[in-house]
Amino acid sequence: MPKLSDPWNHHDWSSRHYVSQWAEGQDQREIDRQEIFRLMAKTLPYDQEASITILDVGAGYGALAQFLLKYFSNATAVCQDGSDEMAKLGRKRMKDLKGRVKYVLCDFSKPGWSRKIKGRFEAVVSSIAIHNVRSLDIIRAIYGETFSLVKPGGCFLNFDRMTPSLKDQIKWLKEAGFEDVKSFWDGGRRALVGGFKKK
Ligand SMILES: C[S@@+](CC[C@H](N)C(=O)[O-])C[C@H]1O[C@@H](n2cnc3c(N)ncnc32)[C@H](O)[C@@H]1O
Repeated sequence: MPKLSDPWNHHDWSSRHYVSQWAEGQDQREIDRQEIFRLMAKTLPYDQEASITILDVGAGYGALAQFLLKYFSNATAVCQDGSDEMAKLGRKRMKDLKGRVKYVLCDFSKPGWSRKIKGRFEAVVSSIAIHNVRSLDIIRAIYGETFSLVKPGGCFLNFDRMTPSLKDQIKWLKEAGFEDVKSFWDGGRRALVGGFKKK
């Protein structure tokens, strides 16, 4: 996988050392995200027993995918990420969920990334990942391609930094084709936004 670009040079997701340090720091803060992950699970329009398919965009080591696979005990998940090192760590951390989760490596800042992912999903989710591309046009394009990955009747939820603003994110989600778009939680810099795809 070619190195992911980071226009602000904040992260080096292709470095094993950086990824392992980032994950260690994140582990200590993981408890703070459980409530928002639970809200995401409850917002998805499915029973806990439903055999849904989930796509976690920019999944990292799979914190959100793992939470959702425990909540939806018959679900399976695809974790998309652009970092081999994150995928390696995620496969290790989710070995208990073998058979229910797999990784697809691709760079969501590049047009056509969604074609590398086979199938359509009842639930497409993402956590603190999409803002990494920094460019507003690319975020809009990602929302556009994400729409094509959601099954009719399904849902996309993005817990992320609202760059530049929550209002813009909502506008782009509507432009992508999602309906009933709204903010499900607003924490200021970060929020949970999403919408549904008509049946
Ligand atoms: C801050 S981490 C969040 C990981 C995970 N979603 C979580 O909440 O723990 C951002 C993730 O986005 C991935 N990422 C960043 N830019 C990407 C890109 N252009 N394409 C695919 N993945 C990307 C990184 O590899 C990293 O795993």
